[in-house]
Amino acid sequence: MSNPTLLILYGSQTGTAQDTAQRIARQAQRRRLLVQAMPLDDYNVANLISESVVVFVCSTTGQGDPPDNMKNFWRFLFRKSLPAGSLCRLDFAIVGLGDSSYPKFNFVAKKLHKRLLQLGASLLLPVGLADDQHDLGPDAVIDPWLTSFWDKFFALYPSLKDLNPLREDEPLPPTYTFHFLDDVKDVTDDRLRIPTEQTKPSQSHPFPARLLSNKRVTDVAHFQEVRHIEFDITGSNIEFTAGDVVMMYPCNAPEDVHQFCQLLRLDPESRFTLRPSDNTAGRFPARLPQPCTIRHLVEKYLDIAAVPRRSFFELLATFATNELEREKLAEFSSAAGQDDLHSYCNRPRRTALEVLADFPHTTAELRVDYLLDLFPEIQPRSFSIASSLQVHPNRLHILVAVVSYKTKLYKPRRGLCSTWLASLDPEQGEVYVPLWVKKGSLKFPKEKDTPVIMVGPGTGVAPFRSALQERTAEGKTANVLFFGCRSQFKDFYFSSEWEEMIKAGQLSLFTAFSRDQEEKVYVQHRVLENAKLLQDLIVNKSAYFYIAGNAKQMPTSVRDALKEVFQQEGGVSSEDAEQMLDAMERSGRLQSETWS
Ligand code: 2AM
Repeated sequence: MSNPTLLILYGSQTGTAQDTAQRIARQAQRRRLLVQAMPLDDYNVANLISESVVVFVCSTTGQGDPPDNMKNFWRFLFRKSLPAGSLCRLDFAIVGLGDSSYPKFNFVAKKLHKRLLQLGASLLLPVGLADDQHDLGPDAVIDPWLTSFWDKFFALYPSLKDLNPLREDEPLPPTYTFHFLDDVKDVTDDRLRIPTEQTKPSQSHPFPARLLSNKRVTDVAHFQEVRHIEFDITGSNIEFTAGDVVMMYPCNAPEDVHQFCQLLRLDPESRFTLRPSDNTAGRFPARLPQPCTIRHLVEKYLDIAAVPRRSFFELLATFATNELEREKLAEFSSAAGQDDLHSYCNRPRRTALEVLADFPHTTAELRVDYLLDLFPEIQPRSFSIASSLQVHPNRLHILVAVVSYKTKLYKPRRGLCSTWLASLDPEQGEVYVPLWVKKGSLKFPKEKDTPVIMVGPGTGVAPFRSALQERTAEGKTANVLFFGCRSQFKDFYFSSEWEEMIKAGQLSLFTAFSRDQEEKVYVQHRVLENAKLLQDLIVNKSAYFYIAGNAKQMPTSVRDALKEVFQQEGGVSSEDAEQMLDAMERSGRLQSETWS
């Protein structure tokens, strides 16, 4: 048998699957194996018939969906025309990344497994089903899975075992090397170039939308800062309908960029080009202009504000010369040290930058070439669009809660994207945000007379503002909105707009102000109070029912309230009411979009 290239294909939405794939690739490199790791959609799937061993690392997102960077692969793989034995030469292994608090836990990995078996491929070892809910995170499953994987792999290719593996404390070569330049013109941000061709903006070609306004919509005395942000998308070719989402890449804060450069003794203005250090380097970082400045790299690309993963400590440990720091980093990298690492990093949400500051000697020793191996790329963030093009042509609105919370660490934790957005001030000169839009999961009925019932407490109301604008512009007046917030006077978003719609006979609004009186009142209480109306709309008038907002208990409580409506008003049993909800979900008449 000839030496195979171990191919690792991943589908990753937030970067965890990518990190796992890269970790497997590093383990393979340490064993001196030929290895390639790439997103599934960068791979020519027709070549799968001639591969020997492939490891698939796939996460499951939302309601059991594959991540964006494996969607084309997914469509291809499930073509009916693929012959049953077409992958009979292939040995494969699968690690799935999922969250057992969602109903379709690791659905993608399980479905992929079934399909590959159908196509004749052989499974090397049971599918690894990693769970975000596990106290120690996905590694609790991945670590032992990897040990079995290598056993199986070397049982298949005994001649590849013991090829003089690299020691754990020796760093692998960096994926790219940095070549510093002296005399290059200004670095331009590719994302700020107005696209000339008439293509729709996308992740690879976002549209630089001008920020028009950025207003706080919660009372200044309110505990939470929520902002209504408006962008100008004139000339962008962007189209969207209610329920769609807008995507954007946030930037690191200038003070973090400054501190990072100081710790690593880097000049932010220095310019470099990147070269892959060998031909196994994956995709070139498309979002980095060439040449690029260190400032651009740190501000727009390296995710230094995220909680670092274990791989970060593994690599950092290889640079440590200070005895104390080396010991601690080695412990955090080891399987035995995962509890401690969790308490140090994950629980208090310590950022990679803060970790660097805790290990100053090692940080000062870091080689710049390793920056792209140490830090993942900043991931794009999504927001429900809060406006309709029919009411606000050439505009796109979002409603953003600025994330800030305390842990045991002194400094409050802040959401990278919401904090960055909050800091943008259109009064201080022109500000552009590169963005693109994506189809969302919420779909609204086309029929004019079909009523919609929307339950959107807090910023959950954003997609419903878009829907209400769109629907009222189209003359669809059967709209019911349940909105909940803490106080009528502090965080009741868009109240004057609802007032106008009510006056025009376009909206029935039910509000739940949870803290304006002694006892808590939530949207689910209002749902129950209006059982008669809801039963009539849903059962007799085929209404659609929507829930949007922060995950936690709200969506389940609202669903339970709706079940009670059916039991109370329809006189059906609990099982029958549950079946009614299931049937509504299956036919798209009960939809939800939740985020945490
Ligand atoms: P609270 O903060 O007073 O508990 C928007 O955030 C609104 O949703 C607030 O009024 C908030 O109330 C409320 N909320 C919090 N938890 C909820 C839950 N489990 N179900 C419904 N509403 C909830």
